[in-house]
Amino acid sequence: TDYLSAAESVHPDLTVVGPEAPLVSGVVDRFRSRHLPIVGPVQEHAQLEGSKIYAKRFMEDLGIPTARSAQAQDLDQARKALDRFDLPVVVKADGLAAGKGVIIANTPAEAIAAVESLGPNLVIEEFLEGEEISFIALCDGRSALPFEVTQDHKAVHDGDTGPNTGGMGAYCDGRLMDSATTSRILDTVIRPVVDRIGFTGFLYAGLMMTADGPKVLEFNVRLGDPETQALMHRMSNDFA
Ligand code: AMP
Ligand code: GLY
Repeated sequence: TDYLSAAESVHPDLTVVGPEAPLVSGVVDRFRSRHLPIVGPVQEHAQLEGSKIYAKRFMEDLGIPTARSAQAQDLDQARKALDRFDLPVVVKADGLAAGKGVIIANTPAEAIAAVESLGPNLVIEEFLEGEEISFIALCDGRSALPFEVTQDHKAVHDGDTGPNTGGMGAYCDGRLMDSATTSRILDTVIRPVVDRIGFTGFLYAGLMMTADGPKVLEFNVRLGDPETQALMHRMSNDFA
């Protein structure tokens, strides 16, 4: 899709990018080069969502809490890396996969099958237990304004069963998070990203609230789908 020529004919006051694919392919860089106001990260920063390997290295460099992991560039490396993890183990494809790039393997055979179906570029990581939340902040390169925390239902079937999806539904009730935990997440996860790279746009941390505190499962660089529906529904001021 030619977003740039669409914007040049419509002249929007502001463009807010919803899906990840245009962000990862550099729509923000192109709009900015023509001085068209747009909310989102530049292409390089969109790699936080576009590549799990990039995101993992980034988190390790900045000391952002996340699951212990190994990266693999081929199937042989991946099979060897599996030995260093207990079961269940989490296998993630490097690139965008619309919610289908992650397999939680409960047996050695499942782990090998996951590596073979998602490879060759993979992140293998320890399984984290806890409550999963979506923490989204709007960032302007210097400051970060968090939305209320949301939760989405990942498993495809009722009763939290079946394979993971990008999210079957979401809710937000304002009581999921106390202010101390919100501050902790801002300080340990969101602020380091904004301070280090001057991130602009929506920074979405998918977090597992483990017994050792919040740990990042993934970054997205956009509002969540379906979390946005719950957030917009509860918003009392003008989003724009
Ligand atoms: P991701 O795209 O990395 O967020 O993974 C998709 C889903 O898989 C997450 O929303 C979690 O439900 C689950 N998941 C990912 N990583 C882990 C992990 N290390 N431990 C447990 N569950 C995970
Ligand atoms: N609901 C998860 C996501 O938008 O990626």
